[in-house]
Amino acid sequence: MKAIDALHEAHKLAFSPFVFETAYCLLELNILEAMVENRGPMSIKAIAKKTEVSEYGVRVLLEMAASADIVEQTEEDVYKTTKIGYFILRDEMTRVNLYFTHDVCYRGLFHLKESIVNGKAEGLKTLGDWETIYQGLSILPEPMKKSWFDFDHFYSDNSFDDALKVIFKYKPKQIFDIGGNTGKWCIAATKHDENVRMKLFDLPVQLNVAKENIGKIDEIKDRVEFQEIDMLDSSSEIPAGADVYWMSQFLDCFSEEEIEQILLKIKKNMKPDARIFIMETFIDNQRFPAATHSLVATSLYFTALANGNSKMYSSSAMKYIVGKAGFECIDEHHLHNNSFHTILEIKLK
Ligand SMILES: C[S@@+](CC[C@H](N)C(=O)[O-])C[C@H]1O[C@@H](n2cnc3c(N)ncnc32)[C@H](O)[C@@H]1O
Repeated sequence: MKAIDALHEAHKLAFSPFVFETAYCLLELNILEAMVENRGPMSIKAIAKKTEVSEYGVRVLLEMAASADIVEQTEEDVYKTTKIGYFILRDEMTRVNLYFTHDVCYRGLFHLKESIVNGKAEGLKTLGDWETIYQGLSILPEPMKKSWFDFDHFYSDNSFDDALKVIFKYKPKQIFDIGGNTGKWCIAATKHDENVRMKLFDLPVQLNVAKENIGKIDEIKDRVEFQEIDMLDSSSEIPAGADVYWMSQFLDCFSEEEIEQILLKIKKNMKPDARIFIMETFIDNQRFPAATHSLVATSLYFTALANGNSKMYSSSAMKYIVGKAGFECIDEHHLHNNSFHTILEIKLK
């Protein structure tokens, strides 16, 4: 990169929150929608009329957006969207990430430096008064709650079908879903196999929502049990009885030492031939740079907002911890069909 280009990038970075908030406003105030629907260049006056935003408001946003290549000026006071603008409006991953960043993370990220220095999620106080974000997830105020769950589910839902194929090749009779959250995967699994029984483990605030969701579905409700648990409590136990343990996007909520302790907790009562499946979006298993970028940004959400000590891991780091806890990884399933996930298949050494 030439020095002049590097300097330009550095200057852009110094104002990057302005660009981000501009993109958010263009979405929220329906300006991008109006421009894309128009299918061609549109004047500031026409955009203001269509969106009921002042001409002043439309002008300052579009001038910033043009400088950031979100829109392009075609003549005086006339703009059209670029491909970037189109994707901000229509690409689901972009929108989910943008609303998660804005609603859940933005204010807390202001405390990133203190979080790194103190080893504590100092930004969490912008959301609620909890020890970690997980005590508050299902009772977050809106729009934080919707944006958090849209983000979480976006990165889980599109892996469901492929994940079910991997797990059900063992024809498990009993699955323990640890960090089962609101029960989405449990519902998919118990519908996929009409005989399988499941037990969901999570903090009470999430299990209450899971119980409500699953209790409404007659064909599965009698095959699902629930156990409230704090996996960080050294006296908590995972009982015996599972053929398969499922942990989807769960272990990234913990530090390396905590992951090892969680695996040891499972090991204590585990049948020798049971399998553990760990599904994660690993930073070293991504095809697209945008995916890696989203994941390393998500690590900073853990630092500043979630718990202050976890991150998105590489598969090699996870396999190292798995080995340290006395397990071996016997297979690695890459779900690259529409998804960013890898499932590590683990058994006792
Ligand atoms: C990122 S969500 C993943 C949920 C789900 N498995 C999925 O794939 O979408 C992490 C889950 O772990 C749970 N969790 C976090 N810390 C926990 C703890 N200490 N004990 C039990 N569950 C915990 C959270 O409540 C949440 O439901």
